[in-house]
Amino acid sequence: MNDQDPTIDTLLHESRSFPPPPEFAAAAHANDPAIYDQADADWEGWWERWASRLQWDQPWQQVLDWQAPYAKWFVGGKLNASVQCLDRHVDAGHGNRVAYYWEGESGDKRTLTYADMLAEVCHTANALKELGVQRGDRVTLYMPMVPELAISVLACTRIGAIFSVVFAGFSATSLQDRIQDQEAKLVICADACSRRGKCLDLKAVVDEAVANCPTIEKVLVWHRGAGVASASPVSDREVAWEDLVPRQKDQCPPASMDAEDPLFILYTSGTTGKPKGIVHTTGGYLTGALATSKLVFDLKPAQDVYWCTADIGWITGHSYIVFGPMANGVTQVMYEGAPDYPAPDRFWSLVDDYKVSVFYTAPTAIRAFMKWGDEHPEAHDLSSLRLLGTVGEPINPEAWMWYRNKIGHDLCPIVDTWWQTETGGIMISPLPGITATVPGSAMHTFPGVEARLLDQEGKEVEGAGGGYLVLTRPWPSMLRGLWRDPERYEETYWSRFPGKYFAGDGAKRDEHGNLWVLGRVDDVMNVSGHRLSTMEIESALVAHEAVAEAAVIGVAHDLKGQAPVGFVILRGGFEATPELAQTLRQHVATEIGGLARPEAVHFTPELPKTRSGKIMRRLLRDVAEGKALGDLTTLADPGVLTGLKQEYESA
Ligand code: PRX
Repeated sequence: MNDQDPTIDTLLHESRSFPPPPEFAAAAHANDPAIYDQADADWEGWWERWASRLQWDQPWQQVLDWQAPYAKWFVGGKLNASVQCLDRHVDAGHGNRVAYYWEGESGDKRTLTYADMLAEVCHTANALKELGVQRGDRVTLYMPMVPELAISVLACTRIGAIFSVVFAGFSATSLQDRIQDQEAKLVICADACSRRGKCLDLKAVVDEAVANCPTIEKVLVWHRGAGVASASPVSDREVAWEDLVPRQKDQCPPASMDAEDPLFILYTSGTTGKPKGIVHTTGGYLTGALATSKLVFDLKPAQDVYWCTADIGWITGHSYIVFGPMANGVTQVMYEGAPDYPAPDRFWSLVDDYKVSVFYTAPTAIRAFMKWGDEHPEAHDLSSLRLLGTVGEPINPEAWMWYRNKIGHDLCPIVDTWWQTETGGIMISPLPGITATVPGSAMHTFPGVEARLLDQEGKEVEGAGGGYLVLTRPWPSMLRGLWRDPERYEETYWSRFPGKYFAGDGAKRDEHGNLWVLGRVDDVMNVSGHRLSTMEIESALVAHEAVAEAAVIGVAHDLKGQAPVGFVILRGGFEATPELAQTLRQHVATEIGGLARPEAVHFTPELPKTRSGKIMRRLLRDVAEGKALGDLTTLADPGVLTGLKQEYESA
C-alpha cells in the first residue's frame, strides 16, 4: 500500500503542512503536545478524568474491566444520559442558552434553549411512560431532522429505554428488519417531511413496516401541520404526539442507569446481507463523546455556534449532534433539508445567518460544493468560521485545499476525523490547536487511543508503510457487541487479528508518522460517506423475479466517492432491456433505500468466479473502472471477462 515515492512525500509534507494559526492555538483547549504522552502514560487514568466531568449518581468502583473482546468501563457507576446533556447545564444557570437553532428547508425557524429542551424531553419521557414504555424496552425512531428527533432520543434515555434511530431514507423493508431484530415496542415517527420541496410520506413507510411487526404496541406520530402531511389513513395503533405529549408534566425524574446499560442500537452494513445492530452503552459512550467533541472541535459553549450537517440517523449525528455537543452545552444549528435547495448557496447562507463558528461536514458534500462553483460561498460572509471538520470517507487533497481556501479563507484549521459507528467517537484526527495538518491525512490517534498497522500475517508494520488498521487498546465509547449476536461480534472484529480490534480499513503511515486512511478492505463500499454492503444489494437484486444471480461492486465516483454498480444474470424468459435495468435499480431503492440505488445495472451471461465459486468482485471493479485486468490465474473461466468487458463498454 505504500506506493508513494518518499521524496515526493517529503516535498508534499514540507510544502503542504498547515500549523494551527497562533491565535487559535493560544486559545485552544488542547495546545500542548505533551497531552499525547500524558494520555499514553496512563490511558485508563486519562479516560477516568474525562468520565469524572460527567455527573454521576453513583461513582464507579473500577475504571475498566477488560475481558477481551468485552469491555466494561466505569464498573458500578450510575448516571443518566439526558442529565449530562440538559439538567447539568440548566442547573448551572445556562437554561437560557440556545441548544438548537433549527431551520427547515422552506425557511421555517425554531429556537430551543437548554431549558426548553429539558421541558420537552420531560413531556416526551412522561408520554412514553404513559404508552407503557419501560426501562430496557426498545423504541425505534424514524424521523427527519427536526428537534423532535433529538427530543425523542433524549426522552428515551431519560427513562432508560434503548433507542434506535433508523435513517428516514431507509425503506419499509429495512425499517421492518430493524424493528424485528430489536423487538421494539414503540415507533416514534413524523408523518411526513419535505425534500427539495417534495413531500415524502414517512408514515406510509412506517405503516407498511409495522404491519409485520407484532412487538410494536403503539406508533407515536409527530405531525408537521400545514403544508406537508401524510396521506396515509390513521391506523388503530397510532397515537398523535399533539394529543399526548403537550399535556404531560414538566418534570420527569431521570432513571439512574448503570454505566454499562445499553444506550442505543444503531444498524450498519456489514459484509453479509444482514445489517449489524451495534450496541453502545451509557457511561463510556458519553465519556468518549464529551472528550472528543471538546478537544477535536475545541467547543467553547459561551461563544461557539456549531453545525454538523449529518443526519441523526447516522452515528455522526448521534455523537456529534446530540450527545457530544449537548454534553458540552454548546449552541448548535440544525438544518432539515438539501444543501442546494432552493439554491446551491443554502449552507453558506445558514453559516452567515447564524454566525456558525465550527462546521463539520462530509467530503462528498465538499466535492459537490466545488462543482457548484465558488460564487456560492463567495456570496456570503463566512468570517464567523474558525474551525472546519470532515468525516465519513477519505478526503482528497484537492477538496481539502478548496475547503481550506474557499470556506476557511486559509484561517481555519481542518480536522479530518476518522472513526466508525462501532468506535462511537473520533479515533484518529488532528487536534486543531496542536497538529500541523497535511491535506488528506487524518494525522494521529486521539490521545489515549492506540492504532497499529498490520500486514497479512498480523505482523506490525513499523515506520512508513501500509497495512490493516487495528486499534489495540479498549476505549470507553467502543461498541459492546452486536445486538444479541456475540458470535458475529467476535468473528467480525476480533478474529482476523486476535485480541485487536480490526476496523475493516486499510491505512498507511507516511515517514512523518501521519496516518492516511485509505478505505475499506472488505466487501463494504462507502457511498457519500455512508456504508453499504455489496451483499445486501446483491440480496435485494436476487429477490427480484427476473434475477438469477447478481454481483455488486463499488466503483469510483467523482461526487459520491464510490457508487454501487450491479452485474446481473437474468432468469430464462426475461429480456435484457434498458427498462428492466431501470426497474432493477428502482427495486433496490425500494428494498433498501435510495442511497443503495445502483448507478447502473449490467446484464451478463456469466460472472467471473474463482474455482471455488466465489465471485471475484475485484475483477468486476477493474472492468467497470476500465483498468487493465490483473492476475487471472485463480479464475475458473477467464473467457467470462472478455464478454463482460464487451458488454460493459458497449453500455
Ligand atoms: O471506511 C471508513 C470510513 O467510514 C467507515 C465508517 O463508516 P460509518 O460507520 O458509517 O461511520 C461514518 C462516520 C463516522 C470507516 O470504516 N471513514 C470514516 N471517516 C473517515 C473514513 N475514511 C477515511 N477518512 C475518514 N476521515
